[in-house]
Amino acid sequence: MTETPIETNVLLIGSGGREHALAWALAASPQLGDFYAAPGNPGIFDYAVPANLDTADHPAVVAFCREKAIGLVVIGPEAPLVAGLADDLRAAGLAVFGPDKAAAQLEGSKGFTKDLCAEFHIPTGAYGRFTGTAAAKAYLAGKSMPIVVKADGLAAGKGVVIAADVAEAEAAIDACFEGAFGAAGSEVVIEEFLDGEEASFFALCDGDTAIAFGAAQDHKRVGDGDTGPNTGGMGAYSPAPVMTDAMIERTMREIIAPTVAGMKKRGTPFKGVLFAGLMITAKGPQLIEYNVRFGDPECQVLMMRLSSDLLPILLAVARGRLADAEISFSSDAALTVVMAAEGYPGTPRKGTEIHGLETAQSLEGVEIFHAGTVHDGERILANGGRVLNVTAHASSVAEAQARAYAAVDLIRWPEGFCRRDIGWRAVARERAGR
Ligand code: AMP
Ligand code: GLY
Repeated sequence: MTETPIETNVLLIGSGGREHALAWALAASPQLGDFYAAPGNPGIFDYAVPANLDTADHPAVVAFCREKAIGLVVIGPEAPLVAGLADDLRAAGLAVFGPDKAAAQLEGSKGFTKDLCAEFHIPTGAYGRFTGTAAAKAYLAGKSMPIVVKADGLAAGKGVVIAADVAEAEAAIDACFEGAFGAAGSEVVIEEFLDGEEASFFALCDGDTAIAFGAAQDHKRVGDGDTGPNTGGMGAYSPAPVMTDAMIERTMREIIAPTVAGMKKRGTPFKGVLFAGLMITAKGPQLIEYNVRFGDPECQVLMMRLSSDLLPILLAVARGRLADAEISFSSDAALTVVMAAEGYPGTPRKGTEIHGLETAQSLEGVEIFHAGTVHDGERILANGGRVLNVTAHASSVAEAQARAYAAVDLIRWPEGFCRRDIGWRAVARERAGR
């Protein structure tokens, strides 16, 4: 029996390029009713009405959802999930895409995830958890180098040091316990260095069922040729050539399925999207870390390739009926180039004006997602580190790359910059015919 689609009113939480891409995909749904966003951004407000909410005020979010008859709340970023927004919405009887606070510990605590891996035999690097300097330093004795030192909690991607030798590892341990990452560093995880090619892998989970939802590769370093400091991600493409059908099947079986089963067994089922940061090693896929939300900018390329309606998929996750969902992706490749403001990943310059967005957006196969912009009347100003995600799809990564950079070159924003080599690894593979 097929259900008659009824319109669903949606509230989207978040303000980045990831949420603009989700808003763009949701807006294409024939099932979308009224659409609200908080905090939102100028790109998101092309489709959604500003909800004017403080998303940290959970009772206010619940009251808004009741007043507007919201049928689905989609939570984009990790911070509200770790803060328990999904719990409070579910307790009020609302359908939510995003895990409860207890399940969000998969991202909120690296030690939590490592212990889960140990308990359920999920492949990951050997590790130790420490709350004091002396024990942490003692663990280094006899370990092979490099070794990885991580702040346990949320550190906006900055709490990881790959230490070449014991001295560097000890310095990283000291920095953590001296408060370099605030409360996130009050516990330290020390981990075996994994060698291989990284991939971002996504699986939707409704607490019980898990379904693969695409893979991507991003570029974490700020500079061309993967040089310079780490960032939140300077660009991404999908599919990830390293994630063959066989590797996806293995990842689902060895990593995702035991995670979902383990979380259910512990009484904290995971409902939302599991983002596994993988290292594809000579031994197979190993888990580097989990995130409990879509990647940013990986989401942008997934949404460009998704060929089924996003709204019923997210609703199926929220309602625990993922097995009924229809999920398909185009065989096209998608690629996104992040345009960032001068100064990023340090302090970005704000308030500079961006021109040429409409012309760039009009190119075939191109969508421009706003990540850190603000309206000033009719003008669009930069208002963050990562500011725009210039995204394109085409039949090959090389063609998607050419389209994205053609659009980048039409954007007039002298105070912005981007990497010129996003997708280099996949393009080289395509050229080599592999
Ligand atoms: P994370 O914040 O945990 O994603 O770590 C940031 C980056 O550090 C990852 O994307 C990897 O490139 C690298 N990294 C983290 N843990 C490891 C590991 N055990 N072995 C090798 N590289 C790692
Ligand atoms: N692009 C990596 C992340 O969203 O964490």
